[in-house]
This record gives sequence, structure tokens and C-alpha cells, in this order.
Amino acid sequence: MSAEKRIRCEKLKNRIMSAADAAAMIPPGINVGMSGFTGAGYPKAIPGALAERIRRHNAEGKPPFRISVWTGASTAPELDGVLAEVDGIERRLPFQTDPICRDRINTGKMDYVDYHLSEVSQYAWSGFLGKMDIAVIEVSGIREDGSLIPSSSVGNNKTWIEQADRIILEVNDQQSAGLEGMHDVYYGTALPPHRQPIMITHPADRIGDAYLACPPEKVIAVVKTSAADRNSPFKEPDEVSKRIASHILNFFHQEIEAGRLPAELLPIQSGVGNIPNAVLNGLDAGPFKNLTAFTEVIQDGMLAMLKSGTLAVASATAFSLSPKALEELNANIDFYRERIILRQQDISNHPELVRRLGIIAMNGLIEADIYGNVNSTHIMGTRMMNGIGGSGDFARNGYLSIFVSPSTAKGGAISAIVPMVSHVDHTEHDVKIIVTEQGLADLRGLSPRQRAHEIIDKCAHPDFKPALMDYFERSQASGRGQHTPHLLEEALSWHLRFEAEGHM
Ligand code: COA
Repeated sequence: MSAEKRIRCEKLKNRIMSAADAAAMIPPGINVGMSGFTGAGYPKAIPGALAERIRRHNAEGKPPFRISVWTGASTAPELDGVLAEVDGIERRLPFQTDPICRDRINTGKMDYVDYHLSEVSQYAWSGFLGKMDIAVIEVSGIREDGSLIPSSSVGNNKTWIEQADRIILEVNDQQSAGLEGMHDVYYGTALPPHRQPIMITHPADRIGDAYLACPPEKVIAVVKTSAADRNSPFKEPDEVSKRIASHILNFFHQEIEAGRLPAELLPIQSGVGNIPNAVLNGLDAGPFKNLTAFTEVIQDGMLAMLKSGTLAVASATAFSLSPKALEELNANIDFYRERIILRQQDISNHPELVRRLGIIAMNGLIEADIYGNVNSTHIMGTRMMNGIGGSGDFARNGYLSIFVSPSTAKGGAISAIVPMVSHVDHTEHDVKIIVTEQGLADLRGLSPRQRAHEIIDKCAHPDFKPALMDYFERSQASGRGQHTPHLLEEALSWHLRFEAEGHM
């Protein structure tokens, strides 16, 4: 269905305009809320038109034209990339993965506020982030009454639409019209002390509306677009990913045998990436049936699991699909709409729900230390990689918090297991299981010194195991505190050595 036919609200038909005209309504210095989550449902045309305007403005030697960009999570080169390239972003939140943004953040040219994704909307509501002036939201249609059919992500769109003074809509006819009815937008959240329980007791529960409410009088522009989401292909799982997946699958079987997990497991949350995708492929190849997912993002592996019946239902806030998986989704959208629920991110990642449902959380790590603290965000302690995303929402509150990584990085120069992490995102109190291709460390019920044995023994690469053991033993002999023994003068020496010599 063409974008024209998707704009069914009479009042808004006279606000249809070009992306350039809509971008001209965005002044410098304001906070702009944009849709978009893991490369899905982000505005495709206005950021580019705005970047072009900024480029012309800068060429005239005028004072810098910069805005603050708030989204759901990561977007794509057509949003983050183009705006960062013209130095158009003053402050970015709450998550991004764009290489140009990353460079600007790490060279101190862009402020980046890296929040747990479930918390962003309450911070926006509480006001300390500042006023949201304009929201730019991609939708797949506008209904007669002005309410909106969300596209391939919901993210923070509900909050942005409520908070912004003025709204610009992009209606994208490349988003399947069959997405209508897949979403569940909940209008019962409130700031404390007025909060009520959020009554989801199963990932399949629907508690809200299929549409985003949007007062037509706030809409200042409607732009028609016809462009696909980022849709990057996944790599075929390599040997390392397959070994990590097989350790996790063996662990699930053991837990079922021990009576600590039911045969259909508990709802799964899986980060995006090749290793999580390999775990999902492994689950799909196994004997599991009627699993559920309560997660942030639906990636290729989950779609395949829904198709095969391994997964009965998946709740998330966005898709993140390869072009092939997108084709599959669109070809069988009626089948998937029965089994997928897309919610706003303050519900998809809500700690109350993650705890109640007993989520099995699986996320990536950059490095873990011998006591089980995890760094998911910072390279060598100072350089931002992506951000914490939803990993903290799920890791702290999940029933099982699993972190995965190859045991080495950069061709073996870096050990993922280090004496002390150079930045902490997930503390030893949150992390239950660490898995590398070497093995799986089950940290539940262990004291710090027991954890050190388990992590070094099961997860460290053989090239680094003796040095880690040596560090641990000398820490114990140091005469310092023995609860979490450390040699403070050496604890970060591995990172310093890497920076000086290119090898840990
Ligand atoms: N030191 C330096 N670089 C390291 C490193 C380390 N200890 N560990 C990994 N890297 C580098 C890799 O070499 C790779 O770099 P490259 O892209 O230049 O090749 C990059 O980091 C990514 O590593 P990879 O092993 O491919 O893992 P990944 O793509 O699964 O990403 C995280 C791992 C931790 C960066 C990623 O999971 C993340 O951003 N997590 C935080 C957010 C999150 O968990 N979101 C999901 C919640 S729902």
C-alpha cells in the first residue's frame, strides 16, 4: 500500500511536505526525539535533509548548528551517521552503535548519555534531561482519527509523542502494512508515587492498544518515505560461536535435569549479535518446544524458532533482521503477527516484569574479571564501544544472567578474562554465568575466591590461564584483604601493557 493511502487522517493530508521542508522546521539547539531501535523504525529522510541543511549552514561560517538526539536505541547511517558527519549532534542518548558517532564520542566532540534503556522514558518524564521540542517518528500508517500504526520498532515513541511540543511523521510504505495489530502500547505508566503494577504475567499478554495516540494538532509535518530498515546480514556462526552455544545448551539440559528449569525453559532474552544468534540456532536444532521470549529485539534466530515451533511467542520492542529474514517476515506476516508483540521499551525491558517472568538473559561482554565483574561498554577503560543498552535491565533482574564472549580478542592479543575490569557495567552481584568457547563458569553460590578458580579454569584462554592464576595466587599471598584479593598496583597492568606493546 502506497504512503499516500496510508495517510488516512483528513486533517493531516494538508501537512504532507518534502523532507527538506520538514527539516527546515527544526531549529538549532533543541532536543529532538527520534524513533528507531537497533536499526529498525528510524526516520529515513528527515535526518539526511537536516544534515544537508547543517552542511550548508556550516559552510556559511555561521555559529555551529547542533541538536540533541534522543532515540530508542541504535539507528543507522541515515540518522546517526549523517548527523554525526556534519557535527550536528550535541548530545546523544541513550544508545548508539554508529562508527562516526563513536569516534566523535571518544574524541570528546559529542556528549553521550548511556542509560539503561528501560529508564529513559521516566527520565524524560521527570524533566532533568530538558524539554523535548520536536519528535520525528517513523510510522507505517496514520489512521482516520490521527492515531498511528507503529512501524518495525516502538522504542520510546510513546513517550516522545507525549513529551514533544511538535511532531513530524514519516510514513514509510516499505514497512509491511501487516504490522498493524502487532504492537501493544501501554498507557498505564506513571511517575512515582503513583505507579501501579504492570499486569503482564506471561510474555504473550497484551495490556494496551495496538496504536500510538497522537493529537493531530501537534503534527506539523508529514513526510512520505519508501526505504527499508538497515537490515544488516548476520554472519554464519563460526566455530567459536558454535562452541559457546553448545556450552549454553548443555547447561540448559543440566538445569532441566536438576529440576531448576522447566522443560520449556523460562522466557529468553537475547542480545543482538552473532553469538546470541548462534545460541538461538542451537536451541532451534535441539529438542525444545514452546519456548517463549521476553526480549528487546527479534533477530533472525527468533524468527526461525517461531517458524519451527521451538518458540511459541516473542515479546520485544523492535526487529533487527537480515534482508532474507525480513523477506520471510513480510511473506508470512499474518503468521508472525499472531506470535509477536512489539511493546514500548519501558515495558519490554521493565525490571518488574523481568524479575516476575524469571528471564534467562544472554548478553555479550567486552571483558570480565576473575571475580565476575563485567565490562560491556568500554575498550581499555576509556573508549566507548556501544553502550549498556538493555543488558543491565535484564542482567540484574533476570533469573539467570549469562554473559558470552570469545576468550580472546584482536587475534589473541587481548584476553577477555582480566585481573580487574577496566570499567564495570554489571557487577559480580548480577553476573551468574560466564561463557567463552573454552567453557562455562557457573558462579551461582560461589564466594569471590571460588569464582576466580571457576572463571580462570573454565573461561580463560590457555595462553592467559597461567598468568591469571599467577596473579590470583600472588594476590592471596599479598597480605591484603582476602575477600576479593587484588594486587592494586598490578590490577590494570594488562590493559597498560596492551596500550604500550599491543599485547596483554
Ligand atoms: N578489548 C578490545 N576490543 C575488544 C574486546 C576487548 N576486550 N572484546 C571485544 N573487542 C572488540 C572486538 O575485537 C570487535 O572489534 P571489531 O568490530 O573491530 O572487530 C568488537 O569489540 C565487538 O566484539 P565481538 O566479539 O564481535 O562481539 P559483539 O559484536 O557480540 O559485541 C559487545 C560485544 C559487548 C560490544 C556488545 O554485546 C554490546 O555492545 N553489548 C552492550 C549492549 C548490550 O548488551 N545490548 C543487548 C541488550 S538487549
